[in-house]
Amino acid sequence: MNNKRFYKVLIFFSFVLIMSINAQEKYGISNDFHSNNRNNLRDQMPENSISILFSSPTRKRSNDVYYHYHPDPNYYYLTGWREPHSILLIFKNYMRDSLGNYNEILFVRDKDPYDEKWNGKRMGVKGAKKLGFDRVFDKNTFSAMNFNFKSFDKILLNKFLTDVEDIISDESDLFDLQIQLKSKINFQNEFNPEVFKWYNLILNVSDDEIDKLKNQLLFYSKRNKYLSNDKIIQNFISINTDEFKKETNRKKNYFIPDFNFDFELLKKFLTNQREIKTEEEIELIRTAVKISSIGQYEVMKAAKPGMSEREIQGLHQYIYKRYGSAHEGYPSIVGAGENSCVLHYISNDKTDIKNQLILMDLGAEYRGYTADVTRTIPVSGKFTFEQKQIYEIVYDAQEAGIEIAKKGNSFSQIYQATKKVAIEGLMNLGILKKPEDIRTYFPHGVAHHIGLDVHDPGNYGLLSENMVITVEPGIYIPEGSDCDPKWWSIGIRIEDDILITEDGNENLSKYAPRELNLIEKTMKLDSALDNFILPKIKN
Ligand code: GLY
Ligand code: MN
Ligand code: MN
Repeated sequence: MNNKRFYKVLIFFSFVLIMSINAQEKYGISNDFHSNNRNNLRDQMPENSISILFSSPTRKRSNDVYYHYHPDPNYYYLTGWREPHSILLIFKNYMRDSLGNYNEILFVRDKDPYDEKWNGKRMGVKGAKKLGFDRVFDKNTFSAMNFNFKSFDKILLNKFLTDVEDIISDESDLFDLQIQLKSKINFQNEFNPEVFKWYNLILNVSDDEIDKLKNQLLFYSKRNKYLSNDKIIQNFISINTDEFKKETNRKKNYFIPDFNFDFELLKKFLTNQREIKTEEEIELIRTAVKISSIGQYEVMKAAKPGMSEREIQGLHQYIYKRYGSAHEGYPSIVGAGENSCVLHYISNDKTDIKNQLILMDLGAEYRGYTADVTRTIPVSGKFTFEQKQIYEIVYDAQEAGIEIAKKGNSFSQIYQATKKVAIEGLMNLGILKKPEDIRTYFPHGVAHHIGLDVHDPGNYGLLSENMVITVEPGIYIPEGSDCDPKWWSIGIRIEDDILITEDGNENLSKYAPRELNLIEKTMKLDSALDNFILPKIKN
């Protein structure tokens, strides 16, 4: 082969190679992202421990129809794997067998030409290896795998699911994998993670915290039958504190059982990791938020009196899909008039929204990551005097919250800043009689993390760079509220997605008009949907 030909062939094969790598990564995030996540989890795990995670269950809707499958966010975060019936083992320390050293194993559904003909391609064991796992096995082999699980000081788990379907034709579906694992780790069915969490606190409580723990247990026992029926817990509550202090072997003398399971640590470690986003994650969130913001903008142009809530919802979602978002990150909230005051309104079934205010809380999910953006608009295109008054308070509260949403400040400071503005505004209008009643009209928290979950895990302490959070104050005055009826049925939330940066923050949803005048101006613009007229199906 002459030199020129050699290089042509080389370029061709490099292209093929790059294309095939891209084929693996096209969902959005690199293999390195997931393997770094596993390594960071491993770093936090205690010595001689193992973490065990399951993929999320398939869910039947009725008869032979299933809900759309959605991967478990933690599982996806650690593996990149998006198929059901899978189990992941992560070891703190290297294990060794005849094949060599390993510190993680993934069990997956292998390929099955018959099933794939009906339900689409599976990645199989080979596909999973391309995600960067050395050791991937068919899930059918999990039951035969023998480890001495007793030898681990700690087995880190998430709670087992109790409502998983047993697929009769599959002996290693999620239902069976859970049973097999329980048997391997000698998990007793009466084991209750909530009760066990308190056992651990009793075992480790310091002398000056004993009374506090007793009081907490007394409080929770009134609300939790497992605690109130548990002899060990109740015995601890009634024990003499000084006697307990003298006890040198709490485990033995209080019959506290000795399990090596832990249901707290995995959640805690993954929360520490997931609350800070990597550059790759931020890019995906940025895209999800941009799509959602364009949705808000386009709907402002298209919304017309007489539309239905569902139609408005559909317009947002059509735009999401035009941009390649598979679906929403959470059930869309589209509530007109009185429905704008129902915080988790998802039926969206009012058919004639007339000229009312409409609250639109929707987020596109893009390659696993979700936005969470709310705008509230007057369907007529013009806010009434009363709506304007309330809108301005919510807007100012949000401005105050966004101003505080900076590295080093706390979530609670954001809440306090927004609440202060809401109290002042509602007192001035005579709607609120006493500041301490503010929760009547300002009832929910105003900031949470977003990411793979719309309410992404977080410690909710101080803000750090590369967190992405919402700032979303809302004021809701339902019919029958103790104020002049002219304020009734006004529900307004404004929600933006904010990236915390080195020296401040960036509003990722800034493309969705937010200022009152800009909303009214946008609503006057023509929409491509204005002339989209469908035939009547009823006379
Ligand atoms: N969309 C739910 C929320 O705003 O938290
Ligand atoms: Mn939110
Ligand atoms: Mn929301």
